[in-house]
Amino acid sequence: MTQKHVLLPVPDAAVRDGANSRKVFIKTYGCQMNVYDSGRMADALARDGYQPTEDMQEADLVLLNTCHIREKAAEKVYSALGRLRDMKKQRAAEGREFMIGVTGCVAQAEGEEILRRAPSVDVVVGPQTYHRLPEALRRAKGGERVVETDYAIEDKFEYLPDTDKAKIRARGVTAFLTVQEGCDKFCTFCVVPYTRGSEVSRPVSQIVDEAMKLVDGGVREITLLGQNVNAWHGAGPKGEEWSLGDLLYRLAAIPGLARLRYTTSHPRDMDDRLIEAHRDLRTLMPYLHLPVQSGSDRILKAMNRRHTAAEYLSLIERIRSMRPDIAMSGDFIVGFPGETDADFEDTLRVVEAVRYAQAFSFKYSTRPGTPGAELDDQVPEAVKAERLERLQALLLKQQHEFAESCVGKVIDLLLEKPGRMPGQLIGRSPWLQSVNVDAKTSRIGDIISVRITGTGPNSLFAEVA
Ligand code: 5AD
Ligand code: SF4
Repeated sequence: MTQKHVLLPVPDAAVRDGANSRKVFIKTYGCQMNVYDSGRMADALARDGYQPTEDMQEADLVLLNTCHIREKAAEKVYSALGRLRDMKKQRAAEGREFMIGVTGCVAQAEGEEILRRAPSVDVVVGPQTYHRLPEALRRAKGGERVVETDYAIEDKFEYLPDTDKAKIRARGVTAFLTVQEGCDKFCTFCVVPYTRGSEVSRPVSQIVDEAMKLVDGGVREITLLGQNVNAWHGAGPKGEEWSLGDLLYRLAAIPGLARLRYTTSHPRDMDDRLIEAHRDLRTLMPYLHLPVQSGSDRILKAMNRRHTAAEYLSLIERIRSMRPDIAMSGDFIVGFPGETDADFEDTLRVVEAVRYAQAFSFKYSTRPGTPGAELDDQVPEAVKAERLERLQALLLKQQHEFAESCVGKVIDLLLEKPGRMPGQLIGRSPWLQSVNVDAKTSRIGDIISVRITGTGPNSLFAEVA
């Protein structure tokens, strides 16, 4: 359903910059796209006089930017709302304003249902309409309970306020940039095509502008985001069709931009241009998150992934022939309806063949409204748990092997933040590992050459080379 919207005027400067500015606390659940969206919501609210705070206790507005991908993620939101209801009661007793908003994919999927289940919620705003959040809050202050979950006709990216240099700098030297949203793949387990809608690519000029602003504000590494990022396409300067590969070549030409990444990709959309970009662009980091979900052709078919395990493996072989040092990352689901022991063994075989540097694995979670929810032959919880444990043990072993293989190597490290010890800094390796180094004379944002000296549970140690 599409409604007509009148955007209310923004309050004048006196209100905006007033001494009694309000504070917003944003809790982000789920994926990196939500992290990006939370940043943009904070930008939109800043124009209405809301300052971000890390302390929920001092907030006048709490937003839960939610994830609907698995059942547990959605449940977490309702239990957080229970705690917020108590906080709101207490604030009311003190005569203080306190507003609660639910945004993101649970907002989109549940809409009105959230207002019914959680009477203390003031606004529910979906991911396609968060530019209307300030207006929704103003309406809610007038006593309305607002639900904004239609797919907007207007482009939300057009409404996003410019990010100023100081703000960008404060956010650090690495940044996310959404280039694509939504998905047309309809994997049978997944809610994304329903919560984020169909595939939309942002135009080249908008992306290049935003990237240049980020670089101008001190960002050295940009990760392009999309639910199906390698399906991104747009018109190049002469009107010709560009794919993600072309976009990466263009972005790599921005002076001062040292590193590029992109996530999440679908195996079906890894075209030659993108693989060539991995060969040609030193700016493009040798790391690729390429989910396979299952190693069984039968299950891949039931999941509507539209490729076989052999096709996935040969694709990785091709990518590795172009960029031998590339580290692979993936997502896996165990216990999809109908998955047998033999299917699961096929998944383990694919993992053995790929040797992942990083991976995320989940028990299948039934999502109402998806085709998977209609399937008979759901796998018992205990079987899922046992398979997940075996898979994770294997993936963890590979992750450690990959980390060990880095010891002794000299690598480029992008310094990101101060470490725990004085003089220590934490940086990011080309393969997305966190690396601790004593580097007294270097500054955050520098890229320095270091030698990896050892591994810890979740990070590496290094010395200046
Ligand atoms: N159950 C379990 N895992 C899921 N994912 C997506 N939908 C489900 C589901 N219904 C996982 C996939 C995807 C990642 C983001 O989350 O592995 O790649
Ligand atoms: Fe979901 Fe990714 Fe499949 Fe799209 S490609 S339906 S986002 S798992």
